[in-house]
Amino acid sequence: MTLYDKIKSIQDNFNSELSSVTDKSLSAELLYNKYLGRKGLVSSLYSELGKINNLEKPKAGEKINSLKNFLEEKLKKANIKSEKKSNKDSSIDLTLPGNHFLEGSIHPITQVMNDISSIFKNIGFSIFSGDEVEDEFYNFEALNIPKYHPARDMQDTYYLNNDKLLRTHTSASQIHFMENNTPPIKIISPGRVYRNEDISVRSYCLFHQIEGLYVDKNVSFADLKGLLEYFSKKYFGEDVKVRFRPSYFPFTEPSAEMDIYWGLESESDYRITKGTGWLEILGCGMVDPEVFKAVEYDSSLKGYAFGIGIERIAMLKYGITDIRLLYEGDVRFLRQF
Ligand code: PHE
Repeated sequence: MTLYDKIKSIQDNFNSELSSVTDKSLSAELLYNKYLGRKGLVSSLYSELGKINNLEKPKAGEKINSLKNFLEEKLKKANIKSEKKSNKDSSIDLTLPGNHFLEGSIHPITQVMNDISSIFKNIGFSIFSGDEVEDEFYNFEALNIPKYHPARDMQDTYYLNNDKLLRTHTSASQIHFMENNTPPIKIISPGRVYRNEDISVRSYCLFHQIEGLYVDKNVSFADLKGLLEYFSKKYFGEDVKVRFRPSYFPFTEPSAEMDIYWGLESESDYRITKGTGWLEILGCGMVDPEVFKAVEYDSSLKGYAFGIGIERIAMLKYGITDIRLLYEGDVRFLRQF
């Protein structure tokens, strides 16, 4: 078959195939690619040009060109273009701006817990995570909170059933840890706790604490004070002012609470500190011998414990005036951290 015969037969085949195209979308691209594609019939004709003699070349070339124009013209009329071509002209616009994804951030509560934990880790405390579901023994009894103590009142504690409850403080973790380890003990235990309190600007039905426990042979209240002052300076800065007030917890004796001086400059300072300028951020004390008895420890041991309130600190640190903002998951709030 000569090149001319081929040109002729390609054109004839094309005509009959084009007339039988019924389902345009399906066969359009096939047809285009078969004849005009990069490896299509027309381009194979061009490559055969090389094989014919030089005198014939211009004429043959012209024939192929006109076949190509003919095919293009026909396909255009039939509205058939290659898929790729149509993509190029319409649906991809490289100048359009890209899609922006929302970036997440660390929740302020988590941030405060991480920062405080690392201060204690740096001076040799290890981390112990307790459970949020406890029973009365761990949450109360072992911590020297006898039945009928007001802290057990249904007002404060969420009971899941007769003996399971949501822990009201991370102190329950102290007992678990002491049961399974022998002194010396030097741990912190961060986590979430629950109390059935009226929800307000200052309190919520759940919050976070970091428990600390140190047990050894010679441990004194001065050690405890020194540690907490060290922590306060590391976290709030060298010139932070702290004060200890005597307090009462059934599981520590003596007990104290520590306040941070926040100042009384703005209206929100008044609100957060109830007009005193001081904010209580933790409870602490020397481990009560009754607690050691509950975990069958030697009564000659000494120890201190403390429980830091995380929300209070987050509010101080970031100037958050309503505790509920921390739990609403509103991205307009969270994006600021
Ligand atoms: N568990 C106490 C509370 O929730 C805090 C505390 C912990 C006090 C350890 C003394 C020792 O208020």
